[in-house]
Amino acid sequence: MAEGYHHRAGSDHAEIVAMRELMNKSGVKSVDFDPMLFQNAILYVTLEPCCHVGKTPACARTIVAAGFRKVFIGMKDPFKKVNGRGIRYLKNHGIDVEVLSARSRLAEEIRSINQPFIKFVTTGLPYVVMKAGLSLDGKIAPLDGKSKWITSLPARRDARLMRSRCDAVIVGNGTVSVDDPELAPFGRYRGKNILRVVIDKKLELDISRKIFRDENVLVACADQASEKNKKRFSDAGVEFKSFGQKDVSVKKLLNYLAKRDVCSVFVEGGSSIHGAFFDQAMQNDKLLDYVLFYLAPTLIGGRKSKSAIGGIGAKSLASAVNMRKMQFVRIGSDLKVEGPIKIY
Ligand SMILES: NC(=O)c1ccc[n+]([C@@H]2O[C@H](COP(=O)([O-])OP(=O)(O)OC[C@H]3O[C@@H](n4cnc5c(N)ncnc54)[C@H](OP(=O)(O)O)[C@@H]3O)[C@@H](O)[C@H]2O)c1
Repeated sequence: MAEGYHHRAGSDHAEIVAMRELMNKSGVKSVDFDPMLFQNAILYVTLEPCCHVGKTPACARTIVAAGFRKVFIGMKDPFKKVNGRGIRYLKNHGIDVEVLSARSRLAEEIRSINQPFIKFVTTGLPYVVMKAGLSLDGKIAPLDGKSKWITSLPARRDARLMRSRCDAVIVGNGTVSVDDPELAPFGRYRGKNILRVVIDKKLELDISRKIFRDENVLVACADQASEKNKKRFSDAGVEFKSFGQKDVSVKKLLNYLAKRDVCSVFVEGGSSIHGAFFDQAMQNDKLLDYVLFYLAPTLIGGRKSKSAIGGIGAKSLASAVNMRKMQFVRIGSDLKVEGPIKIY
């Protein structure tokens, strides 16, 4: 038995990763799939195998060539180029195919795992997760701005893992200048090439911040950035791009990230950047999809200390954003509260 998952756009799909894993486990060195190994085997996939040659070869062809007997499929691929064609290809080549009923509990779970991909292929935008570690009264930092650490170590480790599952992380210049974060992938995702995006409209940040040590960084600025600052960033070899005149348009930024094959983004604050995403999402409900908050048993208070979501916010309860589902679990001394605000 072997298993696999799709690591990132352009890399082998999950079924191919699992097949290679089985070859490794069985000590088969060949680069081709050995039919002796797969003949009569059963494959379980959360998403319909693709049948077109995109960034990788068609998985359905590989499955047929390898000689699988049966394929269980969690859901039909909503991507236009596949959308049932993979299932037909397998069936037409004599493979017994079973697709889960969309109403089953397992199918629902699989659909929720596949949310980033579904959004990406149906809207052309990355899936957006907003994360914060906050006090029980909704603050992400006290008056002195020092938020290290509101939440406990186990919660922070969990948050780092959740971040590492995404293709990109977004932070504001306020956070980079106060916290000087590295935003590195964590645990089993160490080595993953996460794109780090810093929103710094005037390109004012100090280049010696830790985040700029990494190659895979993009600074999202606005046209108002001065030529002097642009030169400073260019000279340091830090990539930057404007996404608006005065401010960064969240929609333009997300569109651009999608073109770079970023399927999911993790927005890590601070208050003002969360506010920008939230306010723009109230005009366009495809700009924010999931909320992940770690609530600490601490009270910070204060009108001026930053809350999790700044910006303008909802004008009335009627226009407030409601979560579609909410889950919570205790991690360390904190409560992890999460759920989608949009389901695809
Ligand atoms: N506990 C946590 O989970 C957590 C996470 C991150 C940060 N923090 C804390 O939060 C604090 C930082 O929050 P913050 O609100 O000051 O900083 P921030 O959100 O990181 O960045 C603020 C900057 O972003 C700009 N900005 C906002 N929307 C923009 C847009 N659409 N386009 C371009 N620029 C935009 C703001 O400009 P304007 O001023 O013009 O709006 C401001 O210059 C720190 O104390 C940090 O420790 C806590």
